[in-house]
Amino acid sequence: YPPNLQMEENSCLRQAKCRAKGGAAGFKVAILGAAGGIGQPLAMLMKINPLVSVLHLYDVVNTPGVTADISHMDTGAVVRGFLGQPQLENALTGMDLVIIPAGVPRKPGMTRDDLFNINAGIVRTLCEGIAKCCPNATVNLISNPVNSTVPIAAEVFKKAGTYDPKKLLGVTMLDVVRANTFVAEVLGLDPRDVDVPVVGGHAGVTILPLLSQVKPPCSFTQEETEYLTNRIQNGGTEVVEAKAGAGSATLSMAYAAVKFADACLRGLRGDAGVVECAFVASQVTELPFFASKVRLGRQGAEEIFQLGPLNEYERIGLEKAKKELAGSIQKGISFSKK
Ligand code: NAI
Repeated sequence: YPPNLQMEENSCLRQAKCRAKGGAAGFKVAILGAAGGIGQPLAMLMKINPLVSVLHLYDVVNTPGVTADISHMDTGAVVRGFLGQPQLENALTGMDLVIIPAGVPRKPGMTRDDLFNINAGIVRTLCEGIAKCCPNATVNLISNPVNSTVPIAAEVFKKAGTYDPKKLLGVTMLDVVRANTFVAEVLGLDPRDVDVPVVGGHAGVTILPLLSQVKPPCSFTQEETEYLTNRIQNGGTEVVEAKAGAGSATLSMAYAAVKFADACLRGLRGDAGVVECAFVASQVTELPFFASKVRLGRQGAEEIFQLGPLNEYERIGLEKAKKELAGSIQKGISFSKK
């Protein structure tokens, strides 16, 4: 599918010509896990993104339906669907950005680490495909546990000889999105005017909001600090429990993933001053991977910012985060070396 390939190719050519006339830059983006709870709204939002010229939707189930549906939207990106492992290479060839929300989500009572056994293998297979078919692509990794799947992806790319640490980014944007929302609520501000750096990793105590560095500058009581830190760290669990067995955050995650992917694409285009938090290979701490603010450019995460001054509460949080993070990173590396 689509049933008439020639017709599709003609339509792609026509659309490409129109775009060339308009002088618009366009990037080729693949979503792996595109038929899932995150994948579908993410695909819809990427179809709307004016920086995307080609959108490849890959999954092991249901991509024909999702692709047919989304392809009817009258926006610029040309959409193509790919179903199952035999079509993975075609899905990936020529891509500039690959977004990965493939894998199982949490159910109530589960930690992100409980997903490791299934998702580690999925991420490994998909990254082997990326190393082979689009080794220069920027990768946005959403599949949990991000603290372990990013080290797994790094090992796959190292083994293939294609590893560029600047181009492998674990997506922690949802933690920032939640932090902006919850902090804005407490301050009585519009969340769009609030910027909260969230560093560390993407699970429980490894999610470390730096409330002392919130913009606009403000201060919190100890009670507010504890309430906000706890709510930001457990935002994912709040959604898992509310969905009561029907999965984890999908809609807010798709929003966050698009916000992050859009920043990556603006960086690739050469825009100046694009800065977001992400979980990347890092020298900010003694750990090999850490989430902090990064500047996104043509090469990916071109600059990784230091944490800046922390208060006592944050320093204690940082030690806790590093302890847990070290184990999760090692678990990912060990899995890849098996
Ligand atoms: P879902 O189960 O609704 O969708 C996952 C999709 O992945 C399904 O369509 C499934 O067919 C597909 N899939 C499974 N194996 C695959 C393979 N080998 N190749 C390609 N696709 C494959 O799950 P949902 O809710 O979309 O979550 C996806 C992942 O994102 C989970 O691991 C979840 O924990 C994670 N997540 C990450 C967040 C973050 O902040 N980084 C936030 C929320 C979820």
